[in-house]
Amino acid sequence: KILILDFGSQFTQLIARRVREHNVYCELHPYDVSEQFIRDFAPKGIILSGGPASVTEEETPRAPQVVFELGVPVLGICYGMQTMAAQLGGKVINGTHHEYGYAEVRAHGHSKLLTDIQDRCDPDGKCWLDVWMSHGDQVERLPEGFQVMCENASTPIAGMFDDTRRFYAVQFHPEVTHTLQGKAMLGRFVHDICGCGQDWNMPDYIGEAIAKIQAQVGSDEVILGLSGGVDSSVVAALLHRAIGPQLTCVFVDTGLLRLNEGQMVMDMFARNLGVKVIHVDASERFMSKLAGVSDPEKKRKIIGGEFVAVFQEESAKLKNAKWLAQGTIYPDVIESAGAKTKKAHAIKSHHNVGGLPEDMHLKLLEPLRELFKDEVRELGVALGLPHEMVYRHPFPGPGLGVRILGEVKREYADLLRRADHIFIEELRAAGWYEKTSQAFAVFLPVRAVGVMGDGRTYDYVVALRAVQTQDFMTAHWAELPYSLLAKVSNRIINEIRGINRVVYDVTGKPPGTIEWE
Ligand code: XMP
Repeated sequence: KILILDFGSQFTQLIARRVREHNVYCELHPYDVSEQFIRDFAPKGIILSGGPASVTEEETPRAPQVVFELGVPVLGICYGMQTMAAQLGGKVINGTHHEYGYAEVRAHGHSKLLTDIQDRCDPDGKCWLDVWMSHGDQVERLPEGFQVMCENASTPIAGMFDDTRRFYAVQFHPEVTHTLQGKAMLGRFVHDICGCGQDWNMPDYIGEAIAKIQAQVGSDEVILGLSGGVDSSVVAALLHRAIGPQLTCVFVDTGLLRLNEGQMVMDMFARNLGVKVIHVDASERFMSKLAGVSDPEKKRKIIGGEFVAVFQEESAKLKNAKWLAQGTIYPDVIESAGAKTKKAHAIKSHHNVGGLPEDMHLKLLEPLRELFKDEVRELGVALGLPHEMVYRHPFPGPGLGVRILGEVKREYADLLRRADHIFIEELRAAGWYEKTSQAFAVFLPVRAVGVMGDGRTYDYVVALRAVQTQDFMTAHWAELPYSLLAKVSNRIINEIRGINRVVYDVTGKPPGTIEWE
């Protein structure tokens, strides 16, 4: 197993993820764990992460010296490289030349780490790597026994190695995908240099996660807000395995959910799995709070606030609960960390239930905190959740509330739910659901004239939106086949009285957002 020591970089968790992708078990711990801890851990290799500090200042983080004395391979990344250099007798300077983003470095092929790993080679044998840099400081003088592994003009020592002691270090970030050969480098390190086999997988992760949850929670009771979304569903399934009857889920029907969502959640969790789920129909409350409000941000606030109020009322009834479980995943942690300070582990958790549970006097349990979305999905499948549920498109917290333009009314929500359902059904049938990242219908509270049979109609308009995106920050509208759009339009207008016109949204993001409000 691999030990990753965290110096506070935003990318530390990515290192863990890349190592896991190589089917190698790893654990991430703060850089200042005790020497005894490291000896007991008995790692086959150690990775030192990047971090925001500068080794040129006094009293900045150092790796415990034992890291370099155990005789195991060590890989330093960014700050990890600098502290390695400083601790082993090299010199680090406050770079005048900062380097952020893409860089090309020349790779000398003679280290074990980089042999045959490169993006391209010149005819004269010089080989190059495309890497992603983010640093100010750099190593100026190598420690004894080290040689230069890669270089470029602004960073003459962009990587260093000592094959005898199996110490390697790079100034760039191999864990980010922009460093094209990063995965290969980490694979070389964990498999060939550290000698780890490919013997770790998701079922193992489940075992470890369960043990950790059991140790943390003991015999306490836990509450979870179950929304029907991927993250909270996976948490529910995991906690159910770990602590069974100590878990109570609260499912709040806001009246703004997708068609049959409540039914689905109850069938899946309460009936099939035997999870305790309290189903609260709060749609009346939400609708009356939203009456007369048409500003999107006000609607969001009301929905978020009401959700917290309902959730708190319900959880107050569970007198013995000591923990509040949440489906926070790693990107949520980075998001809230990035905004405040760079020291990722000093950041408070991100609350994706919509509000703060602070005055609820409950401790937070966030078992997915270390996982990325696709890992959460893999975990869900491994826990036996249906593929269809685990690979659902994202659904915003305010739900249909931001897909009904302007004032929200129950009548509108009912029409929209049905139109949305038809759209998704047809997308799935045509094999387009997996090819789009998010697809939904939007309700436009304006009336258009139409003709059906022999009569004039004067009904509402629905817009369809389907986008393709990697990260939801930018998106393309999906080029759905006309035949598919035609079918969806026909079905919506024929099956739903009250809608007589369907349009397709051909706006990218930017300039549009994915949602209409
Ligand atoms: P936009 O509309 O900003 O959406 O391009 C990007 C992604 O975020 C989702 N979204 C939300 N999710 N609460 C949420 O939980 C919100 O208020 C909210 N607004 C947008 C949106 O569905 C898309 O996936």
